[in-house]
Amino acid sequence: MKRISLTQYLVEQQREHGRIPSQLRLLIEVVARACKRIAISVNKGALGDVMGSADTENVQGEVQKKLDVISNEVLIEANEWGGHLAAMASEEMDTIHLVPNRYPQGEYLLLFDPLDGSSNIDVNVSIGTIFSVLRKVGHHHGVSEQDFLQPGRFQAAAGYCIYGPQTTLVLTVGDGVAMFTLDRETGSFVLTEENVQIPADTKEFAVNMSNLRHWAPPVKRYIEECLAGKDGPRGKDFNMRWIASMVADVHRILCRGGIFMYPWDKREPEKAGKLRLMYEANPMAFLVEQAGGMATNGHDRIMDLQPGKLHERVSVILGSKNEVQRVTDYHRDTGAEAASQPAQAA
Ligand code: AHG
Ligand code: MN
Ligand code: MN
Repeated sequence: MKRISLTQYLVEQQREHGRIPSQLRLLIEVVARACKRIAISVNKGALGDVMGSADTENVQGEVQKKLDVISNEVLIEANEWGGHLAAMASEEMDTIHLVPNRYPQGEYLLLFDPLDGSSNIDVNVSIGTIFSVLRKVGHHHGVSEQDFLQPGRFQAAAGYCIYGPQTTLVLTVGDGVAMFTLDRETGSFVLTEENVQIPADTKEFAVNMSNLRHWAPPVKRYIEECLAGKDGPRGKDFNMRWIASMVADVHRILCRGGIFMYPWDKREPEKAGKLRLMYEANPMAFLVEQAGGMATNGHDRIMDLQPGKLHERVSVILGSKNEVQRVTDYHRDTGAEAASQPAQAA
């Protein structure tokens, strides 16, 4: 079998479809290189100084793990000097990170969740890095947080790298989804799956069931109907998976279908959800839609939400189209209150 590297794939995509200008290609290659470095740190585990807490807090008040901090630094260092970026934003940084003046400024904005699934680091379960790419719109001098506040439908590219039994980079530039497996012997990402498609129907859901009592009625209704199995209104048995790394749960859905939910719940009613719109929901929604799936917050398409601030949270329902549509219809049927969700459709 002829092996196609990530570089060759990107060059050919540009040649055939004109989708990947040189700055974007450089950006994707730099992110991929950073992910390789993160993979090396992840693999060291207890043999390196990478496990446990960093004893610091991020802007969302979460205690940072050492690997959250390391991964954030690796991504920043790798992306600062190439001339492809105007600025970066990360789940682990309070404010945007400008490219230092000594380097040329590019036209792209990079957003990332450097290490997704932090609670799984110390227990040797799959984790990942999620990224989203926007264009800086307009020709004004400098960059501000405002430049980042674009709905997800304007993403130029998005993807994630999963550090699991294999290290796999999953990418979209708006022309379908491709997967690249890291060949550790040659150090290159090799194309192993193209035109990834999520089946429209599924019998598998992913949700943290321990929160059931806190959910809104439409979400409860959907899950209770799944749990009723063959004898219930759905007339079939469902299976459940919850890895607690969004990257790993979404990866499974891209591979074999399913529905993933991290819905609003009344533990912290003022928060729209747990997951972050710009670093988690938008890039995953872009991938899922590009693979024929669907992603909503129960009311609106995630990629149509106008972000009000960088670290905004959102309720997330994504995966197999018919199931996501069903949950979204249940929200409409019960007239569930959207007021708890600050992000509205643009
Ligand atoms: P992060 O590690 O980047 O903070 O993200 C963790 C997220 C997401 O990956 C996962 O789906 C979810 O949190 C798990 O939350 P629970 O522990 O509440 O199940
Ligand atoms: Mn995350
Ligand atoms: Mn994270």
